Amino acid sequence: MIERNKNLYGLNTFGMSAVADYYIKAASDDDVMKAIELSSELNLPLLVLSGGSNMLIVEDIHAVVLHMDTRGITVEGSDGSDTLVRVAAGEDWHKTVMWSIENGYAGMENLAYIPGRVGSSPVQNIGAYGVEARDVIESVDVIDICTGKKSTFMAGECRFAYRESIFKNEARGRYVITSVLFRLHSAEGYSLRLDYGNIKTELEKRGIENPTVADVADVVTCIRQSKLPEPSQIGNSGSFFKNPVISRSLYEKLIEILPDMPSYDVEGADDNHWKKVPAAFLIDRAGWKGYRRGNVGVHHNQALVLVHYGGGNGRDVLELCNDICRDVREKYGVEIYPEVNIIDAAFVERCAVGGKVK
Ligand code: EPU
Repeated sequence: MIERNKNLYGLNTFGMSAVADYYIKAASDDDVMKAIELSSELNLPLLVLSGGSNMLIVEDIHAVVLHMDTRGITVEGSDGSDTLVRVAAGEDWHKTVMWSIENGYAGMENLAYIPGRVGSSPVQNIGAYGVEARDVIESVDVIDICTGKKSTFMAGECRFAYRESIFKNEARGRYVITSVLFRLHSAEGYSLRLDYGNIKTELEKRGIENPTVADVADVVTCIRQSKLPEPSQIGNSGSFFKNPVISRSLYEKLIEILPDMPSYDVEGADDNHWKKVPAAFLIDRAGWKGYRRGNVGVHHNQALVLVHYGGGNGRDVLELCNDICRDVREKYGVEIYPEVNIIDAAFVERCAVGGKVK
C-alpha cells in the first residue's frame, strides 16, 4: 500500500519526526518493483529504509521511501562443514543471530543485540567484539533501482572495510538489498572469538570455562545492554562516530598528552594510517560525556553515542555532532566523522530514481 505524507517517527531509532512524500512497505520483491515504478512515474528518488537504526533524519524527505519488511530464513545448502543460509532483508538482525545459535551454527554470536535489519548489515558492514558482518557474508542479492534488474554481489565485490562497503560509497543509493546469503559454521569444534573487550572477563565472572556460542551471544547482549541505551527508551543510533585512524606523528604527539589512550593496530598500516584510536576516549577526555543540550546530548555511559530525549529534531543532533567534531579537532588534532547516515536533501538527491541511470 502506498501512503502519502507519512511521518517516519517510530521508524527511526533516533525517534525523529519527519514526513516522507511517499511511503511503501515492501513484503516481497514485487512490492520493491512497485516502489521503483512509482519513483520512476513521479521522478522522485527512492530512499530505502531498513531498521532506521543507523540514520539521523534532519528534514522532511522528498522521495519515495521504501521500507523493507520482507521475511524468511532459508537454508540453501552446505559447503563442507559450512552452511549457506539466505535471509530476507527485512528480518530483524538480532532475531537472525538467535536463529543461527538455536540451529547449531556459529559465526554470528559476537554480533548479538545489534539493532537493525539484515538488509543494512552489509551496507555499513556492522561489527562488534572483534567480528564484522563481512566475516559471515557470502553474497548480497540486490535489485538495481535504475534498471529494475536483479543481481548478486559476491562478498569480494562488496569492498567491505571497517563500517564501509560499496553500498555506502560508489553504489550508494543505487540498489535495494533484497536478501543476504550467510556462510555459517558448525558450532561443534568452532573456535570462538573471545579476545575483544571484556568478553573473557564476563565469562570468567559467570564461572563459564568452556563457553558455547549461546554463552558468547548472551555475554555480548548483556555488555551491550549495560553500555548502550535502548532506542525504545531513549532515541539513539548506537555509535554515532567512527573510530578514526591517525598518523604515526599524531599518535606519538597524543600519547605524550594522553598516556592512557587505547589504540588498535590497523591492517596495512603506514605512517599516515598508523593506529586506530577510540573516538569515545577522545570525546570523553574532551569533556562531552553526559553533556546535555536541550533535547539532545551525549550518553552518560558511552561517549560515542548521541541521544535524543524526545521533542528535539535532527538538526539539534547534527549541531551537537559538529561541535564535538570541532572540539576534538581543536584539542587533539584528530578528525572524527559520523558513521550514521545524515538524511538531508543532499543525501536524498544522491539516491537513484527508478528507471533512470544518472
Ligand atoms: N571509552 C572511553 N569513554 C567512553 C567509552 C569508551 O574512554 O565513554 C574507551 C574505553 O575505555 C575503551 C575504548 O574507549 O578503551 C573503546 O570503547 P568500547 O570498547 O566501548 O568500544 P568502542 O570503540 O567505543 C566499538 C564499536 C561498537 C561496538 C564496540 C564493541 C565503533 C564506532 N563502535 O565501540 O559499535 O559495539 O566497539 O565491539 O566501531 C555501533 O556501531 O553502533 C557500535 C555500538
